[in-house]
Amino acid sequence: MISDNFIDAIRPILQDEQSIEAYKQAAQRPLKKSLKIINSRVRDNDNYDNIADDFLQLTPWDWTLSATVFAELKDQFYIDRETIDIALGKTRQHLCGFFYLQEVAASLPANFLDIPEGGIVLDVCAAPGGKTVQLADRLLSKNPNKPGLVWWNDIDRKRIQTWWTNINRTSMYNTMITQMDGSAFGNLLPEFFDAILVDAPCSGEGTWFKSDSALKWWKEESINKIAATQEHILTAAIKATKVWGSIVYSTCTLNHIENEWILTKLLQKYPDSLELEEVALAQKSEWITHYEDQALLTTHDAQKCARCRPHIHKTGGFFVSKIRKKAAVTTGSYDKKDKAAKKYSGRGAMQYMTYEHSKKLTKEVRNYFADQFGITLDEERFAFAASKHKVYCVSPAILPILNTLPIQKIGVPILKKTRDWFRPLHNAGLLFAHLANKNTATISAEDLQEYVVHKDIPAANLTNMTLVEGNTYCMLVHKNKGVSVAKRVGDNIKNKFLKR
Ligand SMILES: C[S@@+](CC[C@H](N)C(=O)[O-])C[C@H]1O[C@@H](n2cnc3c(N)ncnc32)[C@H](O)[C@@H]1O
Repeated sequence: MISDNFIDAIRPILQDEQSIEAYKQAAQRPLKKSLKIINSRVRDNDNYDNIADDFLQLTPWDWTLSATVFAELKDQFYIDRETIDIALGKTRQHLCGFFYLQEVAASLPANFLDIPEGGIVLDVCAAPGGKTVQLADRLLSKNPNKPGLVWWNDIDRKRIQTWWTNINRTSMYNTMITQMDGSAFGNLLPEFFDAILVDAPCSGEGTWFKSDSALKWWKEESINKIAATQEHILTAAIKATKVWGSIVYSTCTLNHIENEWILTKLLQKYPDSLELEEVALAQKSEWITHYEDQALLTTHDAQKCARCRPHIHKTGGFFVSKIRKKAAVTTGSYDKKDKAAKKYSGRGAMQYMTYEHSKKLTKEVRNYFADQFGITLDEERFAFAASKHKVYCVSPAILPILNTLPIQKIGVPILKKTRDWFRPLHNAGLLFAHLANKNTATISAEDLQEYVVHKDIPAANLTNMTLVEGNTYCMLVHKNKGVSVAKRVGDNIKNKFLKR
């Protein structure tokens, strides 16, 4: 059910009755499933022609991949399935982090942020984390030797666990997490980030395929309230971005108050510092420069933003804009709010952690991987930090800020530790197994599908085994990609796949 109030409110945006009718019908249909390839996990080049056969190995399921409405998204595909015998989320390809399930429009914003090699990027409203994975993957694909850092932040504690699962499944070790009010970043870290994604909390008018409540219970007062939060967060993001850095502001909603009007206000407030840049998509929807009598963006600026419409693009509703910061901004009018938020984490916030990082730890970890698996870990790419019981693989870019800020989680766990031993964890396999030449084995597609749902497999099924004698840990490789670790116990391979 779509509320009449909402239809009246978007009439000036969709502009004619035919579009309104088409919109109403489209906003009741389910969307096609789509997936995004995790390039740094599966690609060695830019050729996507054989992606289905070479990397995703969709047989025996008889699924097909096809290009989405946005030809620019080379790594995003619709997936069609004649028979649904397994949930996409339970496939070995998904659980080993080869692809990520993401709605097509939702995947747009992260593509338009300009991120330099080795850059420090903030995803300020990040939960559950689809766009963080995209950004971290972009940094790792750009230059694996300069993994940079994607800082995941969200105010909502409940959604942190989903982040943890997503980051561990895809092994995006160049990430870290905080739970703060996004409007704190402006005063906390002015001009610190190379780029910031503000995928703002919004009224969700474009997400009917997840829940119909936004369209059913639409109220103008709620829109105005959420727009105030959006403005605070975007203002803080502008302050926290370096001069010449970029900010992408996006929402999954259609109304002008949360989209064009927010940008209009900020461009007026900082006329010498901000400029809108083109969101370069061939398939953009109609733009607006006015809402009834209210002037919004100029035509020149309005055309630069992208709007996705369910009745035109067959995607969720989305708005994407890109801002270039040309000069420093002076502290704006949200100081009071910022000060309150500067306590970082409000009531109920997760406790933050301190981590050990030392030359001694680095040496011990590198020696362990060299002795056990013949792996030489490159110090430029991989750094290590430890909590009481685990060692995490992190990006070297995190080291200057480690323990200086209230960080809740970092990187991915690779080793369990006590005072005198290490044991490898699942993510060590995902990250390093393909580099191993000792205590390693190849697992077939069929066995891997069993392994990802936590079943043990017979040791005799593995090939290319280089296991030394005895009960021992080994690294598992599939199609030359690291997929996990296992423990050989007699004739069995004990399951050590990531548990939720
Ligand atoms: C549209 S969702 C983000 C989706 C996410 N970018 C993704 O791709 O998975 C907006 C998020 O903003 C968070 N949020 C709301 N108010 C916030 C604030 N003041 N500071 C930081 N995050 C906030 C919400 O908890 C919610 O997770």
